[in-house]
Amino acid sequence: MLIEFDQAVVSAAQAQVLRGVNLRLTERRIGVVGPNGAGKSTLARLVNGLVLPTAGAVRVDGLDTRADLKAVRQRVGFVFQNPENQIVFPIVREDMAFGLKRLEPDRARREARIQAGLDALGVAHLADRASHSLSGGERQLVALAAVLVMEPALVVFDEPTTQLDLRNRNRVRDAIAGLPHDALVVSHDLELLEDFDRVVVVRDGLVAADDRPGAALRWYREHCS
Ligand SMILES: Nc1ncnc2c1ncn2[C@@H]1O[C@H](COP(=O)(O)OP(=O)(O)OP(=O)(O)O)[C@@H](O)[C@H]1O
Ligand SMILES: [Mg+2]
Repeated sequence: MLIEFDQAVVSAAQAQVLRGVNLRLTERRIGVVGPNGAGKSTLARLVNGLVLPTAGAVRVDGLDTRADLKAVRQRVGFVFQNPENQIVFPIVREDMAFGLKRLEPDRARREARIQAGLDALGVAHLADRASHSLSGGERQLVALAAVLVMEPALVVFDEPTTQLDLRNRNRVRDAIAGLPHDALVVSHDLELLEDFDRVVVVRDGLVAADDRPGAALRWYREHCS
């Protein structure tokens, strides 16, 4: 999948959050790192059109996020930094079923996919739980399962491991590694990105470094700590 940022600018009330990002990403595993407030989440949100560029353009497989938002959303799944925003239905299973309804109209097959999706992340036992009763880490895993079950061609992750204990963090790492499709992962968990294909360092609203993980993470450690 090709992700293109073409002089993409995002302006907020007072300042520019992103100040002209140019990127052409084709790798299967792309990491994004940078200091707090650098613009990483904003950059991630541009990819599926949750945020639209104030100037410039963002394209996914040639589809402009502004002109072809619906088509972009079908291709790009997004796992939020704060999964509270993501789980809307009272019961986990219902929440996952809602997204999947159009894609899998057959009820039995839909249920099987949901079960398999939860199972893959080790949280099948949560299927009938009240969404609000989940712990932070459980919610993060369920939100991830809900996105993966839709089988998007590209999955964007914003801090997928922040609330997870070591075991669940490794589950998410393995889930990302095993994804059949592409992934763009924003993370402060630098180890998670070490075997990725490419890492982009965002600093102060710009791409400050862009390289193989070894070199990019070294640059980040040297310049941003
Ligand atoms: N809609 C908005 N209005 C005003 N300011 C915004 C808006 N969106 C983002 N910002 C600001 O832009 C900056 C970048 O935000 P962003 O969430 O992209 O950072 P980040 O790199 O993901 O940081 P973190 O590592 O803390 O998650 C922050 O200073 C944030 O407050
Ligand atoms: Mg962020």
